[in-house]
Amino acid sequence: MTTEDSRSKLVVLGISGGIAAYRSCELARLLVKAGFRVQVIMTDYASRFVGPLTFQALTGRPVEVGHGGTLAQAGMDHIDLGQEADLVLVAPATANTLAKLACGMADNLLTTTVLASTCPVLVAPAMNTRMYANAITQENLLKLLNLERFFQVGPDDGDLACGEFGPGRMSQPEVILAHAQRLLSPQDLAGRRLLVSAGPTREAIDPVRFLSNRSSGRMGVAVAAAAWRRGADVTLVAGPGVVEPPEGLDCVRVTSAAEMAKEIDARALRQDAVIMAAAVSDFRPRRVGRSKHKKAEGAPDITFVRTADILAGLGRKKSKRLLVGFAAETGDPVPAAIDKLKRKKIDLVVANDVSQADAGFEVETNRVHLVDAKGVESLPLMKKIEVAERIVDRLVGLLPKRKSRRKRR
Ligand code: CTP
Repeated sequence: MTTEDSRSKLVVLGISGGIAAYRSCELARLLVKAGFRVQVIMTDYASRFVGPLTFQALTGRPVEVGHGGTLAQAGMDHIDLGQEADLVLVAPATANTLAKLACGMADNLLTTTVLASTCPVLVAPAMNTRMYANAITQENLLKLLNLERFFQVGPDDGDLACGEFGPGRMSQPEVILAHAQRLLSPQDLAGRRLLVSAGPTREAIDPVRFLSNRSSGRMGVAVAAAAWRRGADVTLVAGPGVVEPPEGLDCVRVTSAAEMAKEIDARALRQDAVIMAAAVSDFRPRRVGRSKHKKAEGAPDITFVRTADILAGLGRKKSKRLLVGFAAETGDPVPAAIDKLKRKKIDLVVANDVSQADAGFEVETNRVHLVDAKGVESLPLMKKIEVAERIVDRLVGLLPKRKSRRKRR
């Protein structure tokens, strides 16, 4: 989901009373930055950890505490709020608030709003590890998760404010945001399996030197994250230096082209689509020096050999699986993309001219051409996350239609 898509969506951010409430300040900031309207409701106890004014400043809206009242003055009550909300996000969700929600209790504005809502409810539990492990808390959570519209993110394992270690830490705000975006995105890739590669590869010359390229992996990571938000089961095969997406999707780290080929080939058969956004090295040194090449030995004489072309290999074993390739060229990339489409037997090529300063390596933006059997669509300069959504739109259009829908995860 791009910032544009999420602009009009209302997220009710419910904050219950735990020390993790201070981390919800960052969550509120991220939600606003992502383009959501954010209405904060705090329990009385939560307002003893963080002042409502902090959330008011971050969201630009009056904050409701306890039984509320501010919105009521403006003619809006819990019923209106529950109905207008596109998502209720309870973060942190304490054991006490989870228990109340599981019983359908309505003794403050947060619990009444959840009870009066019909939208998805995402809970981010945070509490002492024994309170979390307690069978009562687990039963309460299970009861909620068995309902169609309740979802959970976290908690993480870690050092807890109470001095203990274990599950109980509220998930990172970026992770909670990603799960919220997934719940608010169209689930048009639900039940699909996607394998996405991203970043450069490194081909060793000796123990200290390697051959690589300028790929940052941003484009591939953006595609993986967009597909995950839209319901796909995504595995990301990431080269060195690639920053993992926060979504918690499956990430396999590789270094060389040979390792990338091994990991992709091992998984490709089970996929609905393979998206090769990685800038895989086409060559590697024939021999890797066992020790560091010393300058006194003179300029090294390196012979290069071809690496296996992963995408072309998958194209040769073409099945119903969709194959997407990238063509990073210097100059007009469209002729090379049309050539790659046919030569590698793939379904879609995303082509760009990397000689432009604002499109390609190491920048946040890209200007791409989508080339398939039907023709060429040239997109204007966009953020890579927006380009990723457009690529995913194309994937959805190219994949054979399916009927089944399960509860989203
Ligand atoms: N690719 C691959 N395995 C390689 C090299 C590239 O799977 N060993 C994939 C890339 O991930 C990308 C696509 O092939 O999706 C295009 O790669 P590129 O090297 O630009 O294309 P080629 O036609 O192989 O080479 P060139 O443009 O240099 O002629």
